[in-house]
Amino acid sequence: MKLTNSKILITGGASGIGLGLTERFVSLGNTVIIVGRRAELLDEVAAKYPGKVVAKTADLSSKESRKELYDWVAENHADLEAFINNAGIQNWMDVSDADFLDRALAEIVTNIEAPLHLTALFAKLPSLKTLVNVTSGLAFVPASKIAVYSATKAFFHSFTLSTRYMLKGKGIEVIELIPPALDTDLGGTGIHSQFPPVSGFIDSVFADLEQGKTEITYMHSTDMANGGPEVLKARFDVLNP
Ligand SMILES: NC(=O)c1ccc[n+]([C@@H]2O[C@H](COP(=O)([O-])OP(=O)(O)OC[C@H]3O[C@@H](n4cnc5c(N)ncnc54)[C@H](OP(=O)(O)O)[C@@H]3O)[C@@H](O)[C@H]2O)c1
Repeated sequence: MKLTNSKILITGGASGIGLGLTERFVSLGNTVIIVGRRAELLDEVAAKYPGKVVAKTADLSSKESRKELYDWVAENHADLEAFINNAGIQNWMDVSDADFLDRALAEIVTNIEAPLHLTALFAKLPSLKTLVNVTSGLAFVPASKIAVYSATKAFFHSFTLSTRYMLKGKGIEVIELIPPALDTDLGGTGIHSQFPPVSGFIDSVFADLEQGKTEITYMHSTDMANGGPEVLKARFDVLNP
């Protein structure tokens, strides 16, 4: 992946892992388009990096909004070289909750349907060279309190492996970032506060990107993505006491 003098779009680029990526890419001399639903937050981040961060409001759970985003980029940023599917939601729930199905469907739309559609749309952009998908260590070992979230990440991991082959002919490189649990507002403020900060993950990601790695893990997610049956069983027991 080209790490300097490039134009990169990051969904969910105004908070958490996405913000960490945005700030590092800016410091390396790139222009970053950040996308999310919260216009105020997007504008706040863009104002910190004038001319380097462009804010674009979009609700990626809407098919029309995804199409509108693609048309806007094709018209105004036809030099976009990298697209990062980072936006995601996480719902803590049980299968017996009254609103289980609605919340499960919301996760499926944002974590699966949206990045699939965005992949299909942005793979058409002639300038695109790199697609980055943010999955999770939970793609490999589920946590039952976030069962649907874990399953969406397993789906997205599988789809990423296939996408790497599907896009080879177009010359588009596909990179998978597989974070472990990190301290962000994912799932609600404070839920992840006992986990490591995003900064260490970002340092490690960029060291791996510089080495040309395309499957990038960190701390626990390294075991989860590469471990044999005993490692996975042990991790399952930790996640599901
Ligand atoms: N933190 C962890 O422990 C962890 C571990 C493994 C993987 N991940 C993955 O890392 C990615 C980033 O999560 P995070 O931890 O950085 O949490 P986060 O701060 O909550 O980031 C999620 C981002 O997605 C955006 N988003 C959510 N729904 C959207 C929608 N419908 N349309 C547009 N944007 C939307 C949010 O922006 P708006 O709310 O403004 O729309 C937000 O910026 C996610 O895919 C997550 O699954 C996180």
